[in-house]
Amino acid sequence: MSDTRPDEAASPIPGERPRVVLGVTGGIAAYKAAELLRRFTESGHDVTVVPTAAALQFVGAPTWSALSGKPVATDVWTDVHQVPHVRIGQEADLVVVAPATADLLAQAAHGLAGDLLTNTLLTARCPVVFAPAMHTEMWEHPATRANVATLRARGNLVVEPAEGRLTGKDTGKGRLPDPAEIYEFCSEVLARSTSGASLAQDLLDRDVVVSAGGTREYLDPVRFLGNRSSGLQGYALARAAAARGARVTLVAANVALPDPAGVKVIPVETTAELRAQVLAAAPGADAIVMAAAPADFTPSEVSEAKIKKAADGSVPPLRLRQNPDILREISAERVRPGSVIVGFAAETGDHTGTVLELGRAKLERKGCDLLVVNDVSGGAVFGSPDNEAVILTADGASVEVPSGSKGRLAHRIWDEVAARMTVSASAEPTI
Ligand code: CTP
Repeated sequence: MSDTRPDEAASPIPGERPRVVLGVTGGIAAYKAAELLRRFTESGHDVTVVPTAAALQFVGAPTWSALSGKPVATDVWTDVHQVPHVRIGQEADLVVVAPATADLLAQAAHGLAGDLLTNTLLTARCPVVFAPAMHTEMWEHPATRANVATLRARGNLVVEPAEGRLTGKDTGKGRLPDPAEIYEFCSEVLARSTSGASLAQDLLDRDVVVSAGGTREYLDPVRFLGNRSSGLQGYALARAAAARGARVTLVAANVALPDPAGVKVIPVETTAELRAQVLAAAPGADAIVMAAAPADFTPSEVSEAKIKKAADGSVPPLRLRQNPDILREISAERVRPGSVIVGFAAETGDHTGTVLELGRAKLERKGCDLLVVNDVSGGAVFGSPDNEAVILTADGASVEVPSGSKGRLAHRIWDEVAARMTVSASAEPTI
């Protein structure tokens, strides 16, 4: 396994900047690609922008040229002596088309090569990412579904569009994800493909569920019991899984982070809501990773009105009852045979045992396949971009992940999950 941090864009040739081709097609979201371009160039990528003729109706060549710092290739007839229709694709380390219209997806799926961008797609041998944006009807049309399936089957990455306001008054699925999140997605793919890490698409066609954040248990309409979980680790897990080809459902408890590109985000507040969403998704899930911190206790009664201070200074009693243990429940039920279930344990160690001893006992108690143990003495992990952990496995092994980014830890966790999925998917009953 490579030790390259997957969230750091590794240069394919030492000393050279990663070469990215940004294809832009003719949709209103073309203006958002300017922000994506800026993120690539500011983080040291060499970007060649290839807008289609229709894209230039929305955003002109000077914008792409100024932001990329390079001339913009717009057709196959410019600089023919440099053979741009072949060279641009051949030299790329990553091609990303954002936004990708239904028309572009159809052309790519059928191998058409009528312009510079489609030529580039045919000559590229690097990872290719499509970030579609279109109206919901077009996205859901059987023709588009078939084209997306064809592209994915060939190993291309097609990011699921986000839901929300579309051009005009309608809302639905079809929005271009946040450019910052498309950038994160591309960075993951680029780093993974250049780091020599195991197969980039090892979660292709897998359905995974990740929970993130901390739940709130309400005492009254304005007050709650909560915890310090930021959701960063869960979001890193969701991003990493999406970059490895999985369909990702992210059940997010009170997280103030942008939706990762291509990930279905279900916001929840309480442990009861988190449980309901995780249980609803469990039958279809190849893996469930419980990175959330669900509150273990909830007030026995919730006051409908705001609790007032008493004139005599007396303090209202706080009676609590225990919440269900979601991880334990999904591990015991295993509604989908062969699914891989992962828990997290934030431990400080105490008089009953060390951090790892408590982790091992928790793994057995919960009945999951993997338990990611964090030492949280001093509260170092919460809200921090970095994390270090030990992944304990149900068969008694342990994998130490030294301090690094939460993205790196996320990939190490998916490495372990993917290895177990392969086993369960190919396991044939013996006769
Ligand atoms: N978890 C859960 N449901 C709960 C509490 C925790 O599914 N009601 C999951 C968390 O998402 C995490 C794992 O269980 O993956 C361990 O969480 P932790 O809080 O360390 O475990 P607890 O069972 O609460 O153990 P402790 O008594 O140490 O607090």
